[in-house]
Amino acid sequence: MKPQFTLAIDQGTTSSRAVIFDQGLSQVAVAQQEFSQYFPRDGWVEHCPVEIWQSTLNTCKEALAQAQLTGKDIAAIGITNQRETTVLWHRSTGQPLHNAIVWQDRRTHEQCKALKTQGHEARVQAKTGLILDPYFSATKLQWLLDNIPDARMLAEKGELAFGTIDSWLLWNLTAGQAHKTDATNASRTLLFNIHNQAWDNDLLDLFNIPSSLLPDVVDSSGDFGDADPNLLGAKIPIRAMIGDQQAALVGQRCFAIGDAKCTYGTGAFLMINTGDQAVQSQHRLLTTVAYRLNNKTTYAIEGSIFIAGAVIQWLRDGLAFFSHAQESQRLAQALNALSPISFVPAFTGLGAPYWNPDARGAMFGLTRDTGIKEMTAAALQSVALQTFDLISAIEKDGIALHKLKVDGGMTKNTWLMQLLADIIDKDVHVPQQGELTVLGAALLASLPKKSSLTVNSETTTEADDELVYRPTIKETHRTKLLNDWKKAIRATQVFSQ
Ligand code: G3P
Repeated sequence: MKPQFTLAIDQGTTSSRAVIFDQGLSQVAVAQQEFSQYFPRDGWVEHCPVEIWQSTLNTCKEALAQAQLTGKDIAAIGITNQRETTVLWHRSTGQPLHNAIVWQDRRTHEQCKALKTQGHEARVQAKTGLILDPYFSATKLQWLLDNIPDARMLAEKGELAFGTIDSWLLWNLTAGQAHKTDATNASRTLLFNIHNQAWDNDLLDLFNIPSSLLPDVVDSSGDFGDADPNLLGAKIPIRAMIGDQQAALVGQRCFAIGDAKCTYGTGAFLMINTGDQAVQSQHRLLTTVAYRLNNKTTYAIEGSIFIAGAVIQWLRDGLAFFSHAQESQRLAQALNALSPISFVPAFTGLGAPYWNPDARGAMFGLTRDTGIKEMTAAALQSVALQTFDLISAIEKDGIALHKLKVDGGMTKNTWLMQLLADIIDKDVHVPQQGELTVLGAALLASLPKKSSLTVNSETTTEADDELVYRPTIKETHRTKLLNDWKKAIRATQVFSQ
């Protein structure tokens, strides 16, 4: 019998997941494994690439076992991944030279500042759609080459390979046979020209990166190579790779110009499909590749918030306020009002639209009766308020947004979803099926060759059922929240100077 199932891998910032889908794109099995986070210094965040690979492989095996399937039942693998996180490894052994430098890591902010002062940002933005910030891969890779003994020399000799997590997983899945990335992941490196869809020599010079390190850039759906049969028991074709935020855009079926989604994971990432136009923001949003199919690029505007779910994780693990993230809803509800605290969770700097890598978290308005409830509600409020900032920037860019589709773990929090609708003053649509990132990867992996993405029976799934939250808040309450937030953001930025 022909294999019928699709295995989608979602390698995220805090966990690796594998999900098996049937032909109707319904989930058959899900396996998930968390892995270690390393914080060697203030603002530094690292992952062990070997642990990332091992946890990914483990979850693939576990999902197969759960579904009582073998590798022979899998028709295709799709990979989606945390973006920008940078790995450097030896081509001959596959051994990484260092821990992966994670997208949240701020160690290269001085370098970015210097490049900005030298006046390079406009040129970089025009070519890549990005801005000069440590978030992206180029300065992380430069740091690795400059700080690991012999790395630059080995790179010049062609002995090393660079990749974001998609490339690293592909390399391992194919036992070193394929060194590729897709256009969405390439578009997050600061080295890729999103207009002509090629690595840019001028940028490689600017960041001092030897081109021998780079993977080939291909469409998001296509032939990436075959999984080594020793891994999952069969030679399974790898048919899709796409950055996780772009995968969620696909999973939400935001295929038309103006369709927008925001995914609430560790961070939160709002994306709007802009079709074949790479629209450049005048308000510090990013232009990025949404997906590339049949050599045709679809673009998006993106607003990136670095801390969303991570703030609840901090309250849970760092401050032991509760033992399950879901309890944050009960605490916020128990307050019976909005929190008077303004909490700016700038633990790793501020992302869009502020782009301040020096900023650090702050709370304003503490009193003797401030407690867990007030702080938890304020943390949730910060997620909605940061989303408001992104939407304001988008609207200032002249793009109208009528409703927002949302997904990710935090969308289970109904208190937060109502608050989000209230603060952004728009309808918020939550699909019943919350796993849209991994669904996007599965959808691309199972997409017949040469097809494009349109809303039709092949792409329509149970994700269609959705809950809609509509704005109900009193305007005076909303205005007060927004004014306090503006003051808090300003004060946080002043403090970081
Ligand atoms: O750009 C970073 C983003 O891809 C991380 O996503 O879901 O792991 O927080 P997530």
